[in-house]
Amino acid sequence: MPTLTNKRILLGITGGIAAYKCAELSRLFTRAGAEVRVVMTRAAQEFVTPLTMQALTGNRVLMDLLDFEAEAAMGHIELARWADLVLVAPASADFLARTAHGRADDLLSTLILATSAPIAIAPAMNQGMWSDPGTRQNLDEVRGRGYHVFGPAEGDQACGDVGPGRMVEPADLFASCAELFSGEPLAGRHLLITGGPTREAIDPVRFLSNHSSGKMAYALAAEAAAAGARVTLISGPVSLPTPDRVTRIDVTSAEDMLAATMERIADADAFIGVAAVADYRPANQTAGKIKKDKASMAIDLVRNPDIISEVAGLNPRPLVVGFAAETEDVTANGREKLERKQLDLLFANNATETFNSDEVAATAISAEGEVEIPRARKEAVARKMLELIAERLPVSVEAPA
Ligand code: PMT
Repeated sequence: MPTLTNKRILLGITGGIAAYKCAELSRLFTRAGAEVRVVMTRAAQEFVTPLTMQALTGNRVLMDLLDFEAEAAMGHIELARWADLVLVAPASADFLARTAHGRADDLLSTLILATSAPIAIAPAMNQGMWSDPGTRQNLDEVRGRGYHVFGPAEGDQACGDVGPGRMVEPADLFASCAELFSGEPLAGRHLLITGGPTREAIDPVRFLSNHSSGKMAYALAAEAAAAGARVTLISGPVSLPTPDRVTRIDVTSAEDMLAATMERIADADAFIGVAAVADYRPANQTAGKIKKDKASMAIDLVRNPDIISEVAGLNPRPLVVGFAAETEDVTANGREKLERKQLDLLFANNATETFNSDEVAATAISAEGEVEIPRARKEAVARKMLELIAERLPVSVEAPA
C-alpha cells in the first residue's frame, strides 16, 4: 500500500448511492497516514450519515457554508488552504454542472473555487445522465481546468441500468489519488533531526551553550515534511515556531537529546544531526546558585556523549547525516569528522557565517566526493541537502501498518 504520511485530503461527498463507499475510501486514506476532513452536501447526508464519516476520520464533518461554530474552528478559506488534495467522490451530475459553472452556493462548491490544491473527481450517476451532452460539456470544462477525473466504471447500476456511471471502487480510487503524490522524493520516510543548541547546567540559573538558533534544523524539518516525510525534530532550546506537520520534542541537555534520539531511532530511515551539541558539561551541577565571592573559579568539565556516533554504531542503522561548523579548513575538517564518526554524508559549513544566519553555504562531503551548495536562504539549501539525502536512501519503502 502506498504511504500518504502527512497528506491532507479534503473529501467532498455529494448525493448518490455510491456515497456509502466513502466509508471504505476514508479508511484507506487514514490507514495510509493521511488526515481526512469530510465535507458533505445536503443530498449526500441522505445516503451516508455524517456521524459515520466523523467516526472514521476522527474529524468533525462539515456541511454548511454559514455554520458559525465550524467557521470559528476552521473557516472555509482556511480549509481550502489546508488541503493537499480535494477529492469529490461520488461526484454527481448536479455537482459537475454547478462546478462547471463556478457556483459557490454551498460549502463544497465554495471550497472548490477557493482552493489551490489539485482537485480530483470520481463521477457516479445513471448511464443516461453520464452520456447526456450537458454532462459531457461540463466534464470537458472541468478537465480543461486541470481536474483529475477518475472513472466512472462500467457495469450494473443501482437503478437497474447497465453501462458507464458506477463510481470507481475505493481501492482503485485510493491508488489513483496516491499516484498524484508519488513523485515526492521523501514520501513515507521517517527523518529524525536534531537541532538547536544544548544547554549544560552549571547551577540552577547558569549554563554552558552556544549560538545555534535552530534555523538550519527547522528549515530542513519543514522542507522534509513538505516533501512527504514524517519528521521528528528533537530540538534544543530555541525560539522558533514548530514547522507545519513536524513532531517536535523539546530537550535541554546533550544527555536529554541522546535519550530522546535513542527512544525514536528504531523506525527512522535517516538521522540528521544538525544540533550544535555541547561537547562538555560541568562535572557537577550545584544544587544552589554559586556565590560570586571568589576572584576566580574553575568549572570541572566532562565529555558529553556523542549522539551521532551512538547512532552510527547501531546495527541496523539508518542513513546517518552529520553537520560540521568549522572556522578553518572547512572541507578537510569536515571530511575528518565524516570518517571518524563513520557518517554516510556530512554538510560542512563556515561557523562564522552560519550560526544564527538566515543564509548558508555548505559542502556536501561523502565517500563519493564533494558537492558545493552555493550560499542561499536556509530553506533553499535545505531542499538541495534533502535531494542528496533522498538519493542515498534505500529504494524500498515499507507499507504502513
Ligand atoms: O542553528 P543555526 O543557527 O541555524 O546554525 C546551524 C549550525 C551551525 C548549528 C549547523 O549548520 C551545524 O553546523 N551544526 C553542527 C555544529 C558542529 O560543529 O557540530 P560538531 O562539529 O560539534 O559535531 C559534528 C556532528 O556531530 C554534528 O552532526 C553534531 O550534531 C554531532 N554531535 C556532536 C557532538 C555530540 N556530542 N553529539 C553529536 O551528535
